[in-house]
Amino acid sequence: MTTTPAFDPAAHDYDAEFTDQLLGQWLRECVWKHTPFTAPMHILELGCGTGEDARHFAEMGMSVLATDASGEMIAVAKAKNPPSPTLPPQSRGREQRHANEIPPLHVMGRGLGGGVDNAGGVSFMQLDLNTLPNTPLTDTPFDAVFSNFGVINCVENRAELAKFIHQHLKPHGTAVIVTMTRTCPIEIFWHLLHLRPKQAVRRFFGGRLVHVGNGGALRVWYPSHAELRRDFARAGLRLERMVGIGVTLPPSYLAPLVAKYPRFWGFMRRWEHRLARFFPFNRLNDHTLMVFRRD
Ligand SMILES: C[S@@+](CC[C@H](N)C(=O)[O-])C[C@H]1O[C@@H](n2cnc3c(N)ncnc32)[C@H](O)[C@@H]1O
Repeated sequence: MTTTPAFDPAAHDYDAEFTDQLLGQWLRECVWKHTPFTAPMHILELGCGTGEDARHFAEMGMSVLATDASGEMIAVAKAKNPPSPTLPPQSRGREQRHANEIPPLHVMGRGLGGGVDNAGGVSFMQLDLNTLPNTPLTDTPFDAVFSNFGVINCVENRAELAKFIHQHLKPHGTAVIVTMTRTCPIEIFWHLLHLRPKQAVRRFFGGRLVHVGNGGALRVWYPSHAELRRDFARAGLRLERMVGIGVTLPPSYLAPLVAKYPRFWGFMRRWEHRLARFFPFNRLNDHTLMVFRRD
């Protein structure tokens, strides 16, 4: 089974169901806060979805090659990141902004009105990480590779993926990978509370078919942190740090609950920011942000 059919039908509802939800904005804000990218970096994004992160990096003055297996996801992302007139680097004026500068929430949602200043610019390519090409995507390697919200959980051969990432990074380049974590206490608690023990332990069984919103089904794996660290280390990518994403905030399917009780979850969000970098919260969470460095 290819992954493309699974995400194609989900593409047009993805922003309404996740990106634009209060929970989606809060979780993405956590990712941006802990992503150490600085303009004018050149970034390769794997599994860009609807292009929300690519837009953020471009607004910060970086240039992004955004890739995804789903043609429909790319179509939505392209509409959000229209091509901008090419500006000479010195006129961009945003070179020293950091990816972790978080705009206020009202600016992060849809309805930006004024459009996007693609100072750095976003270009797109359809790429299935389960059928990687043998030759590099570009002539020059990238400063950083980025992959957000569980894309690499859809990849069967992680060793091949790690080699591919290494091949596309400059020496000392950074890879930020946000992966779905095997042990998510809030998810286990939630499903046990609703007497769904099979669902509570689903992440312990990799390679199962998972349904994607309005889309189809695809296979998803939940590698442990140790497995990811080992696979990436073998390819020459050293793990520098891990940060929890969704430590006190719940998984995305509970977005309606967050919207219903924003004050309570706003309180939990403050704890998320306090705890995310520390053990055991950087290991027990919904997603883990892993920062790797190429030697
Ligand atoms: C949960 S979405 C995350 C999208 C985006 N990174 C974000 O932060 O919103 C997962 C994305 O991974 C893409 N994807 C799944 N399997 C893939 C594969 N084998 N190769 C490339 N992209 C894949 C899907 O098309 C989808 O856009």
